[in-house]
Amino acid sequence: AADIQSEITNVLVTEEQIHDKLREIAAQVADDYEGKDLLLVGILKGAVMVMADFSRALRYVVPMDWMAVSSYGTGTKSSGVVQIRKDLDSDLTGRHVLIVEDIIDSGLTLSWLLENFESRGAASVEVFALLRKPEAAKVDVYCKYLGFEIPNEFVIGYGLDYAERYRNLRDIAVLAPHMYS
Ligand code: PRP
Ligand code: MN
Ligand code: MG
Repeated sequence: AADIQSEITNVLVTEEQIHDKLREIAAQVADDYEGKDLLLVGILKGAVMVMADFSRALRYVVPMDWMAVSSYGTGTKSSGVVQIRKDLDSDLTGRHVLIVEDIIDSGLTLSWLLENFESRGAASVEVFALLRKPEAAKVDVYCKYLGFEIPNEFVIGYGLDYAERYRNLRDIAVLAPHMYS
């Protein structure tokens, strides 16, 4: 396997820190949604890892659905144009939806998704994002469950990619600028 030490600047969040945080948020979500018909919606592809680990940290049976959207393509900047690549299979009417995302960067993806989901008649729509970059926000997105606030740097790993690479890294790391500039 290729050694990626030269491709990253530093590790930002370790695998262990991620898992501790997921357990903490899962306990909170389990409490908040007790007795409610909860549906987890993961946003492909970045949210795959956080969905897999978070849903299992919940420790009870919960339905999951997926939506694939993309606004970045192969670049490092959001285009702001959100494309649906795969829609949900579920009907959201009357459901309590928790969107599971890897990161809120500009906020454009989630603000678009929130508006889209609210028009489908969900009983409630909330957001769990593992990461947020407060300095990169272009629109305000209310995120009820947040893992970590991080600096405005291009991060990879644990689902996050640069041109489809690095998603399977276990930690979250800063991509070295020479990899994309
Ligand atoms: C990334 C990330 C979030 C979104 C955040 O997805 O996974 O979904 O960008 O950026 P924003 O807040 O500026 O909109 P991307 O579009 O790269 O697709 P991917 O999940 O398939 O990598
Ligand atoms: Mn994404
Ligand atoms: Mg991406």
